[in-house]
Amino acid sequence: MGLQHLICYIPHVSSIFLGLLLSFPLSALAQQEMTQPLQGLIGQADRGRALVSNKQKSLCLLCHQGPIPEDRFQGNLAPDLSLIAQRLNAAQLRARIVDASQFNPQTIMPSYYRTEGLTRVLQSFKGQTILTAQEIEDVIAFLETLKP
Ligand code: HEC
Repeated sequence: MGLQHLICYIPHVSSIFLGLLLSFPLSALAQQEMTQPLQGLIGQADRGRALVSNKQKSLCLLCHQGPIPEDRFQGNLAPDLSLIAQRLNAAQLRARIVDASQFNPQTIMPSYYRTEGLTRVLQSFKGQTILTAQEIEDVIAFLETLKP
């Protein structure tokens, strides 16, 4: 292949690379769903509601608003939880509550169930999450009740 061919070739190659670069984050994001309930647990909406308004543990309403009228002090730093629930399915909610930083590395939202790696043993990993698997599922079950 002569030099002139090579020069013609370069823009094609670079546009393929550019295409790959642009499509990768989009497709990666689309896969960021967690379709399986954590540890196969079934959530309970009433417990989830209590957790969402819990000011010591979950702190959701520190930043979000939620459909919890008796709670008079709610945050306005983040989207309304009832609107979020209408937009996202359980798998999408789960992925975001487990580790919001994978969607926005700069987010102020805590990662409630981030696991550092699969090699970590259950006992030590348990103590390091903000919410337990059951609590995450409870919160999701509550948010699911907010769908119209
Ligand atoms: C310290 C503030 C803070 C707390 C506490 C917090 N969040 Fe968030 N959350 C945010 C912000 C800000 C966003 C907007 C997205 C971003 O920052 O990337 C967000 C986004 C979300 C999203 C994704 C919304 C979307 O449109 O993709 C969900 C779901 C969510 N929060 C649920 C919760 C739940 C449930 C809790 C409690 C267990 C909680 N958040 C606690 C700040 C918070």
